[in-house]
Amino acid sequence: MLKSTRVSDPALYDIVARELDRQEHNIEMIASESTAPTEVLELSGCVFNNKTTEGYPGNRFQAGSHVADDLERLAIQRCKDVYGAEHVNMQPYSGSTANYSVYSAIMEPGDTIMGMRLDQGGHLTHGSPVNFNTKFYKFLSYGVDEKTELIDYDALAAMAKENKPKLIIAGASSYPRLIDYERMAAVAKEVGAYFLADMAHISGLVGAGVIPSPVPYADFVTSSTSKTICGARGGFIMCKAEHAKKLDKAVFPGTLGSIHLQAIAANAWVFEHLKSDEFKATMRQILANAKKLAEALTARGFRIVSGGTDNHIVLTDLRPKNITGKIFQNALEVVGITVNKNMVPFDPASPFVTSGVRIGLTSTTQRGLKEPQIEEIADIMNQVAAAPEDQKNLADCKDRAEKLISGFPLYPAGYFED
Ligand SMILES: Cc1ncc(COP(=O)(O)O)c(C=O)c1O
Repeated sequence: MLKSTRVSDPALYDIVARELDRQEHNIEMIASESTAPTEVLELSGCVFNNKTTEGYPGNRFQAGSHVADDLERLAIQRCKDVYGAEHVNMQPYSGSTANYSVYSAIMEPGDTIMGMRLDQGGHLTHGSPVNFNTKFYKFLSYGVDEKTELIDYDALAAMAKENKPKLIIAGASSYPRLIDYERMAAVAKEVGAYFLADMAHISGLVGAGVIPSPVPYADFVTSSTSKTICGARGGFIMCKAEHAKKLDKAVFPGTLGSIHLQAIAANAWVFEHLKSDEFKATMRQILANAKKLAEALTARGFRIVSGGTDNHIVLTDLRPKNITGKIFQNALEVVGITVNKNMVPFDPASPFVTSGVRIGLTSTTQRGLKEPQIEEIADIMNQVAAAPEDQKNLADCKDRAEKLISGFPLYPAGYFED
């Protein structure tokens, strides 16, 4: 691994080796994470990193871009084929900048955007006061019904009718259920708003066809490329053909500079891989594993927000266990299970403490864990929750977690040996 760096910069090599070791020996359950396939690792570090290119294929600012043109065209075509999109922009550096580019394509300062509340599942870029976009646009937030914990579409429609936003955003970071894109598109149409679906978290599941796609309904669809889609860190945007010109101009020169061609190369591989039986089987198993985890935790006295899950996320309310998200996250980290504390809808605790944790099933499923191992993880979590500050208990749980994950290598044996 890193054969030049190992010689020229041992201190840095050591940090990377430690991170590989951490990932290998931990059970990674951060919902936004995935494990990059070896091809993605290789392509992310390929010679396209050397090339500066701005503009679009056939119309570049730098000479020597004809091979980059072929690369970007290939990635775009593969993405279009998977999602059935009319137009694709592959240049965003991440899901966040993809959203910024859409805003800048269609919004004027002072215009109104409706997005999901951060404390009920939405994302920072959808209107959190700490995000810089709130300096330019007026954001309104819709949320979930207190009883069902599902998006309250009636309240959302009423808010849209009253406020006539220019843009309505669907999509979330910690919403474990399917979103009714058809219904939200109809609301947007009725009030004359654009409709953006941010599928950052779920684009792998959508690409594999195991959950419904927003693409037929939305004017714009944005995504990260490092979550369930399992690619290199980056982003992409799809839109209806009528918005293509405006969007491309907003991405470059509007919000971004030169293209991260090495990430596009890796993601071109990903878009082809999405069509494979292997990838589809992994995405199906993610859904099965998430359902299993929700059931197994419920059986052990945890409360699952909305009563279950339709995607890769199990949002778990810890109040029946009398512990906070912060305490549980820290205790699980000691044990070698990585999750993040997360607010549950109508959470009385602060975002720094929280009453819940968000658990994602992507990385574990990629490693080959199936229902029996997920049941064992739920049991370890239950043991941790019973005495999260008892060091002997945590040491025992750590043994159980290590034994479990050691049978499921992160990467093929010998891959990093040279
Ligand atoms: C719904 C949603 N949109 C956008 C993003 C931002 O993506 P990135 O981290 O690639 O910038 C996230 C990240 O978690 C997300 O959950």
